[in-house]
Amino acid sequence: MGLKPLRINGKTVDIPIIQGGMGIRISLSKLANACINSGIVSTISAAQIGFLNKNFRKDPMGENKIELKKEIDKIREINPDGILGVNLMHAINHFDEYARFLSTMDIDFIVSGAGLPLDLPEYIKDSKVKGAFIVSSARAAKILLKSWDRRYNYMPEFVVCEGPLAGGHLGFSKEDMESGNVMSLEDIVGETKQIVKIYEEKYGITIPIIAGGGVHDGKDMARMINVGADGVQISTRFIASYECDAHLNYKMMIVNSKESDIVRISSPAGLPGRAVKNFLTEKLKKENIEVSYCVDCLKTCKKVGIPYCITEQLGNSSAGDDNGLIFTGAKAYLIDKLDYVESIVNEIIRDCKLELNLLGGM
Ligand SMILES: Cc1cc2nc3c(=O)[nH]c(=O)nc-3n(C[C@H](O)[C@H](O)[C@H](O)COP(=O)(O)O)c2cc1C
Repeated sequence: MGLKPLRINGKTVDIPIIQGGMGIRISLSKLANACINSGIVSTISAAQIGFLNKNFRKDPMGENKIELKKEIDKIREINPDGILGVNLMHAINHFDEYARFLSTMDIDFIVSGAGLPLDLPEYIKDSKVKGAFIVSSARAAKILLKSWDRRYNYMPEFVVCEGPLAGGHLGFSKEDMESGNVMSLEDIVGETKQIVKIYEEKYGITIPIIAGGGVHDGKDMARMINVGADGVQISTRFIASYECDAHLNYKMMIVNSKESDIVRISSPAGLPGRAVKNFLTEKLKKENIEVSYCVDCLKTCKKVGIPYCITEQLGNSSAGDDNGLIFTGAKAYLIDKLDYVESIVNEIIRDCKLELNLLGGM
């Protein structure tokens, strides 16, 4: 198998890598421009993007919309033709309003995970923006494809399969993660491919399968291509780039982490998450962390008796607080320096091609 260009919404990149969306304020325009300039697809995360704005606590949706537009404009000024998407978690409140708003923006796709975005086509089907989803099982892919087909006669632009080594919220139960009763990313890709094939044939189209979660280097990427993925989604590796929008303190927590520092935590979203061990993760073993305010961010948050507020803690860490929540993928401990996005991409592609026997003479 080789590396094929990735086509999304009528545009093509030769390097089939998507930089995954990272909230809160980790993947914004600086990282996006660097990724697009390096020849890959970029995703910004919509999650509480207006967090630093003065009015955020009073009008979170208004401020989030302002920041989304600002960041998209900053990308389009430099990269009018790059492939750009926005990650919009289905678990957020007012998903419909955000999706409708984003469908009017100059972006190529909305990709949605953290729940089943059964209704996404409803808000975007008459716009130029395409829809895609992130799943952690072939079963979830089947439910979504069936529903999008029946209700909207609409197919995703691509499907991201996210395995158990991913960062942020994980699409597996706490019990399954603890007992190790989770499928490998390779198996999720293989099974999902079979389901997707049925709809590719029905519609006479190609739906690229993108493998994400623990893709750290070229060898990981080659393994995914060999099991049938059309590309990979990489996030954690790009946090440790000079261009990443996160505060330097956040980046250094990733760079300095050891394997034993990568821990799992429960999120008020009702899903497990993965983070770098710090004051917050240690304190949570003994007690809940007081919540200072609520912006009603997640449909799934119970608001009362929760261990901590996810918006507050993720937002604080992206702004530089080492004691906030430092979301990460499982392989962060393999990163030992900051680097430029272009050099990270070049290294991954060189090693992937070597592994796939597409390069000689090294
Ligand atoms: C700091 C961080 C924040 C993330 N934020 C989001 C998010 O807002 N929405 C989402 O769907 N996925 C989010 N993710 C998941 C990533 O987009 C991606 O799919 C996954 O982390 C890929 O695995 P990797 O980090 O091992 O490369 C986040 C991951 C990280 C590390």
